[in-house]
Amino acid sequence: MGRLIAISNRTAADPKARAGGLAVAVWESLQKSGGMWIGWSGDLVEEKPRGVNVFRDDGVQFVLTDLSEQEHDGFYLQYANSVLWPIFHYRLDLASFDNESFAVYSAVNRRIAEITAERAAPGDTIWVHDYHFLLVADCLRHLGWEGPTGFFLHIPFPAPEMFRALPEHQWIARALSAYDVIGLQSQQDRRNFIRYMEEEHGGTELSDGRLQVFGATVKVEAYPIGIDAAGFEKAAESELAQSAADRIGRFLDGRQLVIGVDRMDYSKGLPERFEAVGQLFDDNPDLHGKVSVTQITPPSRSKVEEYKELRIQLDQLSGRINGDYGDLDWLPLRYLARAYGREELAGLFRRASVGLVTPLRDGMNLVAKEFVMAQQEDDPGVLILSEFAGAAEQLTSALIVNPHDTWRLANTIRSALQMPLEERQDRWRKLREIVTSQDINWWSANYLEDLNTLSEQAA
Ligand code: G6P
Repeated sequence: MGRLIAISNRTAADPKARAGGLAVAVWESLQKSGGMWIGWSGDLVEEKPRGVNVFRDDGVQFVLTDLSEQEHDGFYLQYANSVLWPIFHYRLDLASFDNESFAVYSAVNRRIAEITAERAAPGDTIWVHDYHFLLVADCLRHLGWEGPTGFFLHIPFPAPEMFRALPEHQWIARALSAYDVIGLQSQQDRRNFIRYMEEEHGGTELSDGRLQVFGATVKVEAYPIGIDAAGFEKAAESELAQSAADRIGRFLDGRQLVIGVDRMDYSKGLPERFEAVGQLFDDNPDLHGKVSVTQITPPSRSKVEEYKELRIQLDQLSGRINGDYGDLDWLPLRYLARAYGREELAGLFRRASVGLVTPLRDGMNLVAKEFVMAQQEDDPGVLILSEFAGAAEQLTSALIVNPHDTWRLANTIRSALQMPLEERQDRWRKLREIVTSQDINWWSANYLEDLNTLSEQAA
């Protein structure tokens, strides 16, 4: 068998980035096949870069390209994160269309395809990740590449009505049909994708589940991404985890902890979550001084206007709640706009009574799975999960909520804080079973098996 070639905007070139999630699975699969990882170096240069940076680490070859400032703006800040990201997360109101960024996005996709085509050999398998590179397979086919090429979308695929708002949707749809396998996070995403292709492009779903469209046959499947479950469980036992739990323990002084950990992104439903926390303390004076909510929110994409505004909104909301209810020795809501390491987070999750994962839209949400793996059987915390996270299709034993329903969310937090041990254990065992059996290795093995089977059939 040939090598696996992975393509993603961010790679795990930095060994610290290999610790969690996608990076673990891709890294291990690449190692097994002596594979290659192609993506952005993370560096910006003034002029369009001519060469690539190639190096080998632990059996994996990295091929990284810088981006020019103009490419970073048009490809990453504009088209990927101000057009595709909001639309795929159902925020048409936040999408900012312009005439130029799609051309830059296409050009970066083309360059990545050229870098790949120069290095791919017959027998290799190419696996492209996420919304940054929707067009890569199509570019590769134009360059003469015929080998197996799969795509996995880490974010939701929106309802067709939403996708159609994208001025370039027809172009993108056609380009997507150049992939052999299109992997989506949930059944909901798969239904959306198939319905769009059927309604808009006369696609037909075959009896084996494959989709015929634009003269191609594509396998479209839901492959819910998992975490390194065993690794995260171990992380929660580490010294770093213990010391983070001790530190927050000193602050809590015996109070119950409700925790949220999310990148600072409007898809995560943070203002709605803060409103619900305000409502919780409005309605439940008996909880004053007894419960503390800690929200950890590392800033993200802070050059994009909507992200700047979100930051201001969160500062104001948390200030109001603490102003209204805080006391000399108690803060109802701690909001920390900074990042913590994987072990530290595992320790904080373990200390928490409740994990709040309430995005307005999320492809999967791996924090929900990490929260589950950090718990212990003798006193597990309760997971509150948005019905709009892909994870809700698998984690049905969590308390499933609609994040827009402030009053109910507040009430659910209260019930979670008071849930009897037996019910907590029962729910947690079911959740743990799913997170463990459908982990990151299960995910990558399933995906790659499908991609390789198709290519064997085609050979
Ligand atoms: C989401 C996307 C990833 C992306 C990550 C961080 O999880 O699916 O592709 O890498 O956000 O965003 P950033 O823009 O910092 O890469």
